[in-house]
Amino acid sequence: MAFAPNVQEMVRSNPLQVPETFLVSRKEEDEPKSTAEVLDLSSKIPILDLSLLSREHKEELNKLDQACKEWGFFQVVNHGVATELLQEMKDATAKFFELPLEEKNKIRMSGGREGYGQAYAISEGQTMDWSDTLILSLYPAQSRDLQFWPTAPNGFRETIEAYSSEVKRIGEELIRSLSTIMGLEKDALLGLHKEVLQALRVNYTPPCSMPDKVLALSPHSDTTTITILMQEDNVTGLQIRKEGKWVPVKPIPNALVVNVGDALEIWSNGKYKSIEHRAVPNESRLRISYASFLFPHTDAEVGPFDHMVESSRIYKKLKFGDYMAKAIKGKLDGKAHTEMAKIGS
Ligand code: OGA
Ligand code: NI
Repeated sequence: MAFAPNVQEMVRSNPLQVPETFLVSRKEEDEPKSTAEVLDLSSKIPILDLSLLSREHKEELNKLDQACKEWGFFQVVNHGVATELLQEMKDATAKFFELPLEEKNKIRMSGGREGYGQAYAISEGQTMDWSDTLILSLYPAQSRDLQFWPTAPNGFRETIEAYSSEVKRIGEELIRSLSTIMGLEKDALLGLHKEVLQALRVNYTPPCSMPDKVLALSPHSDTTTITILMQEDNVTGLQIRKEGKWVPVKPIPNALVVNVGDALEIWSNGKYKSIEHRAVPNESRLRISYASFLFPHTDAEVGPFDHMVESSRIYKKLKFGDYMAKAIKGKLDGKAHTEMAKIGS
């Protein structure tokens, strides 16, 4: 197992260099071309109003059902998070990454998954992602490991906490809406989580002189129930796989991007889709993105709801912790992990 080079430092010392370990063969037909078709798909990614969902607005709940079925991705507006807080999170994070390497290395990942660092290579010859990360566990609060929390810039810890507590509120509201559209009592799905686990992964993607030859994040689906992502307002990087094409998710200022994760796909017996997605770097601009992952507790049982099984049961019932243990052993590899939860695997 080898750690990837620090991408930020590499670009700082030589902005034009792209070492071979980062080069991927991105198939021509997979590329997001500016064709009318891709732009049209991109413009159709659903936009949902959280204040309507939380008031159980019927049409909005229908839109959520459609979005989870047909897209597995949507953007959320009217979520009630102060614009100032979103900006504070972005400003403080940018300042953190601008600190000298020695300072950031004080919270460097060391064997575990938390802290500052790079995703590691699991197999020899594996292509590296063009990004550095900061990963922290947020909820339940006793899962926080403060030795990995940044001590600079001033107030960053409080900002992370304030931002994450808003994400938690939004996540719980969305899970209640999901419970309703899945034909359950409003609080049933939250209850099945036992306790919602929440982690933050900041992806720091420096500009790349060959943006078409590398990936900031390899294709994957998230193992979560849902993921809530804050993007940069003016740099597009996230792409979702739709109808065999990579479709960009264009940022809407102050909106949050939400996607269905594997756990929700399993609970819904495949009705809701945990879609493959990836991120690409920009040629001239830095992109920082903030993914908050909401998981069921490791002891929670995840399996298709009987009433959602139409013809046949696709997934088996399993402990979420067992699912995770298998999923994180593999490299980010498309949809490989939901495959192994299928009946007969
Ligand atoms: C992730 C993710 C997308 C992005 O961290 O799982 O998919 O745009 N992030 O950074
Ligand atoms: Ni993801």
